[in-house]
Amino acid sequence: MNVLLTGCAGFIGWKTAELLIDQGHQVVGIDNLNDYYDVALKNWRLKQLTHLEGFQFERVDLDNRDELNALFAAHPLEAVINLGGRAGVRYSMENPHAYVETNAVGTLNILEAMRSHGIQKLVLASTSSLYAGQKMPFLESLPVNEPISPYAASKKFAEVMAYTYHHLYDFDISAVRFFTVYGPAGRPDMAPLRFVRWIDEGTPITLFGDGSQSRDFTYVDDIARGTIAALRPVGYEIINLGGGNNPISISKMIETFESRLGKKAVIDEQPFIKADMMHTWAEISKAKRLLDWEPQVSFEEGTQRLVDWYLAEKEWVSQLVL
Ligand SMILES: NC(=O)c1ccc[n+]([C@@H]2O[C@H](COP(=O)([O-])OP(=O)(O)OC[C@H]3O[C@@H](n4cnc5c(N)ncnc54)[C@H](O)[C@@H]3O)[C@@H](O)[C@H]2O)c1
Repeated sequence: MNVLLTGCAGFIGWKTAELLIDQGHQVVGIDNLNDYYDVALKNWRLKQLTHLEGFQFERVDLDNRDELNALFAAHPLEAVINLGGRAGVRYSMENPHAYVETNAVGTLNILEAMRSHGIQKLVLASTSSLYAGQKMPFLESLPVNEPISPYAASKKFAEVMAYTYHHLYDFDISAVRFFTVYGPAGRPDMAPLRFVRWIDEGTPITLFGDGSQSRDFTYVDDIARGTIAALRPVGYEIINLGGGNNPISISKMIETFESRLGKKAVIDEQPFIKADMMHTWAEISKAKRLLDWEPQVSFEEGTQRLVDWYLAEKEWVSQLVL
């Protein structure tokens, strides 16, 4: 397949592009390389991709309709995986417009470009953040109409607008809701990578809340595999991609890194942030049924791989702005 992958210099986009190529697909990857976090990390990921046969990079902004239309006109595409976007719950309180522009309007721009060019398959990155306030484990059929952050609200827009295109124009949509993704070269605004570095350096860890909040962590390779599996025709489906068994507390995650690094964390506890969720836990039987997908990498294995990567790449990772 010829696939357009947005956000290819991002954490999940990079791994998904790599696996798509590995499976024999042709990938046009786009990214605007914005500086929400240190661009050196995005450039490093991109460098891992650019030498791969079947991969082409174009610097295109999802917010720019003209750029997108030119891109669609220039490439014979068959499907789109939309992983580009504004991630991060806390920054969405500071800059909500960016989230609406890229996650909401940017998704609409993609849908319209697809319509103009006769492409009907879209895999859309969504989020467990939509489940705030719901009973666990989180099931796709739960009503999620009360998003507690601009980030979650912008993702809700994308899901429902994609439904409209399914209804009106027979688009085939897989909206995959990811649950706290971690692994090598992960996002520096998320706890796993920054906590590993801070513990290693002896820098105090800024911890919002008392560490009892928990996440259904999912390893990035599993997420990439599930995202690609979601390219199959489904009609319109929302599908959880998450660890699916027992959420792990942030304190337990810190302990795991402490034992892997043989160092003790220094903790700077700050008040819990209202836009954050206390716990997440995915019900994943739908992913098993529709995509034959289950996570394969355990938290023990995944955290070991993250720490090994950090230690191998420490020379430049220690220079990243966190
Ligand atoms: N990482 C997680 O735990 C997680 C959980 C749930 C959902 N998600 C979603 O998955 C997707 C990928 O997340 P990620 O962790 O890889 O984030 P990321 O920030 O590493 O990747 C997103 C990429 O999109 C690019 N981008 C942003 N705005 C753009 C624009 N206007 N035009 C073109 N490119 C743009 C960024 O430069 C970045 O490289 C996002 O939609 C995110 O909301 C991630």
